[in-house]
Amino acid sequence: MSENILQTMGQQLGRRSWAEPWKIKMVEPLRMISREEREKALIEAGYNTFLLKSEDVYIDLLTDSGTSAMSDRQWAGMMMGDEAYAGSRNFYNLESAIQTYYGYKYIIPTHQGRGAEHLISQVAIKSGQYVPGNMYFTTTRLHQELAGGIFVDVIIDEAHDSQNSHPFKGNVDLDKLEALIKREGAEKIAYVSLAGTVNMAGGQPVSMANVKALRELCDHYGIKVYLDVTRMVENAFFIQEREEGYADKTIAEILIEFCSYTHGAWMSAKKDSLVNIGGWLAVNDEPLFEELRNLVVVFEGLHTYGGLAGRDLEAMAIGITESVQDDHVRSRVEQVRYLGKLLTEWDIPIVQPVGGHAIFLDARRIYSHFPQNQFPAQTAAAELYLDSGIRSMERGIASAGRDPKTGDHYYPKLELTRLTIPRRVYTQAHMDVVAESVRAVYDDREKTLGLNMVYEPKYLRFFQARFERL
Ligand code: F0G
Repeated sequence: MSENILQTMGQQLGRRSWAEPWKIKMVEPLRMISREEREKALIEAGYNTFLLKSEDVYIDLLTDSGTSAMSDRQWAGMMMGDEAYAGSRNFYNLESAIQTYYGYKYIIPTHQGRGAEHLISQVAIKSGQYVPGNMYFTTTRLHQELAGGIFVDVIIDEAHDSQNSHPFKGNVDLDKLEALIKREGAEKIAYVSLAGTVNMAGGQPVSMANVKALRELCDHYGIKVYLDVTRMVENAFFIQEREEGYADKTIAEILIEFCSYTHGAWMSAKKDSLVNIGGWLAVNDEPLFEELRNLVVVFEGLHTYGGLAGRDLEAMAIGITESVQDDHVRSRVEQVRYLGKLLTEWDIPIVQPVGGHAIFLDARRIYSHFPQNQFPAQTAAAELYLDSGIRSMERGIASAGRDPKTGDHYYPKLELTRLTIPRRVYTQAHMDVVAESVRAVYDDREKTLGLNMVYEPKYLRFFQARFERL
């Protein structure tokens, strides 16, 4: 029964609806300020949803990062924090959870994902080397560039088309990768930077067949594969659902098999692992581990706490075991799909197929009357906030930043507004409210004007940039 409560219940009741495999024990009140107040708050925030005060937000879909609800078990674990500087019991619990569910040998905790990205980039990239990956992610690429690497996108072309219904749009195009290796030589490739459920493509999964073939190709050339496992649990769900031979395997079995084709991984545990803060880096190679373990002390903290409190490590260890439960993952992804289904029925353009963690509005199609350098996706996020106090975020030209060589904007094909669903936080009724607000914004699209960027920070500009209405 516990294996798959949802399916069993569905069979017993003769229906196939899903429901959350938990009930609510503690609640946090929501507040919605008036339209005039939202107008004022948005101008003060420079039309950037990252600069809004959370108090002024009604339903917060900015990110699924660190915004999940922890379980009673995790909170109980927080009380068992062993706050020793060195050798905390909680570190060993975390190490054992990662070894059990992800299968890597050597573990280094970090304060969050980008702490791990920094360490692996500094150690594994030599200046001038290429880092091919299945689409860029903002912090990942920046750390690769800061280490002297040159990111090269080798995702399949389908990923750049919001309406293409390929079941594994996160796959690496092995021909593109091999052409790069042949052109530049294997020694010029630092490693392949592979990500599960590719965030910037709309939460799109990588198939098991693809990672297997990727590993074979890389073994042939002596190149390492490192995995961004941040949302790999959700990726495992799509493999279970879509890939032949995996329907009867558990999420945990699929997860560990996938990781076994890679040489190491970095993790932002603020997503899949259901914690508010935390991350880690894991490798199987001992000399590499020694180097990383030495470097973590410089930037994060001792190798048994990595910038976290003992209680955070414990919450992460427990969160990992909860995150791989099949009924948890199913209800998480089905909630995202519920919202996607409503919008699709109303013909609102979103990235298809719906991915694991968010709905991505196709802002380029919504605002087809103004150009990409007037920030369509940023505009949609601002309009949604104005309409209802719902906070989303831009994943388009502002997020893409500038080419460090030419100084020009990158012009990504995908110009998206992300409505990211935190895990175990909102109900189906919240999703209805969100869908209706998106529809109101969509209905007003022709009257809407774009934005002009009036302040641009040097790094990861989307976090702090300011805009004005045109
Ligand atoms: N990798 C992926 C795929 C991510 O989505 C993130 C963060 C990171 C790495 C970096 O991890 O935030 O813990 O330092 N994504 C958040 C988001 C910020 O909203 O998508 P971090």
